[in-house]
Amino acid sequence: MTSNSLSNAAAASTTPLTNLASTPSNADTLSYADIQSIVADDFDIMDKQVFGSLNSKVQLVMSVSQHVINAGGKRMRPLITLLCARMFNDEPSQQAMHLAAITEMLHTATLVHDDVIDESGQRRGKPTANATWDNATAVLVGDYLIARAFNLLVGFQSLPLLQVFSDGTCDIAEGEVLQLQHQHNPEATEADYLNIIDGKTSRLFMMATQGAAILQNKTEHLQALADFGQHFGNAFQIVDDVLDYSGDSELMGKNLGDDLAEGKPTLPTIKALELLKNSDTAGYEQLRIAVQTGKTPDAEQLIELVRQSGSLEYCKQRALEETKLAQQALSSLPDNRYRQGLYQLTELASARLV
Ligand code: IPE
Ligand code: IPE
Ligand code: MG
Ligand code: MG
Repeated sequence: MTSNSLSNAAAASTTPLTNLASTPSNADTLSYADIQSIVADDFDIMDKQVFGSLNSKVQLVMSVSQHVINAGGKRMRPLITLLCARMFNDEPSQQAMHLAAITEMLHTATLVHDDVIDESGQRRGKPTANATWDNATAVLVGDYLIARAFNLLVGFQSLPLLQVFSDGTCDIAEGEVLQLQHQHNPEATEADYLNIIDGKTSRLFMMATQGAAILQNKTEHLQALADFGQHFGNAFQIVDDVLDYSGDSELMGKNLGDDLAEGKPTLPTIKALELLKNSDTAGYEQLRIAVQTGKTPDAEQLIELVRQSGSLEYCKQRALEETKLAQQALSSLPDNRYRQGLYQLTELASARLV
């Protein structure tokens, strides 16, 4: 990226920034770019490191990795790491920037794998790696990105850091497997769903925060950061799952409606099934069969059924509750503009639904 990398990052990722970047700021709410600018210099260096850390001798590994990383993305997990590190110690930390770049590398790997599992064709406004090359290539390059992330983590010579990242990466993989197990299961409950997203999404948010605390020797704050990361991650995924039913594909940079077409019981579907069971037996049966079979001959009508059920309102409420819990977890942490940035990030994530 050029020296103008912040605006480039925003421009390159206009699509996947979704309505985050375009969420209007008011007196109380910062835009995503405003929050990035709190750690602008660190962010710029981190962003370069995400590219610079790829050093495979195999050209195909480089091409596939660069394809996904170049496509943009909000770089939200590294932003969280940078804000956390500065919250504890307001000095530029090369280590924190490096760790932030590693969290983005891990995140990218999970997306590359996720798109294979979900058979998705579009990511960050570009064709996915699996669509551009094939599933085998995408899986192997995703593996490479995880391996490379650990390769770089070893360089910190910090066993506690390695512990948090290796435990976390196991949990992420388990979350995805758990999700696979519940595919086509119309009996999946909200508790099942929370278990899944805890692993596949929230765990990386926790790693992004806890890693910064370990680097800054602030391990007394690990629990508060775990709570923050977990609830913020939960809110973020619930919002993403609602947007799969109500968002704008062009703004999101990925195909929407995929979750139902894949028979994935996300919270909007789980709650819709529960609500329809008592109010619309025919609709309930229709949705149940769609989850069971992954066959959605009239997808538009099914999506409308979910929207009309009242389920999305419930999900928005749950996302707000998770956001509040994340914000509460911040209260014991040093009160400065970096903590404010973290707070504002949670506000923005839930504002995507407003
Ligand atoms: C997408 O994450 C995966 C989810 C957890 C929903 P992001 O929405 O942060 O994706 P990018 O990095 O901006 O593309
Ligand atoms: C999030 O799940 C993916 C990961 C956390 C790896 P989704 O399947 O909902 O993510 P999108 O919608 O494809 O980005
Ligand atoms: Mg997906
Ligand atoms: Mg999704």
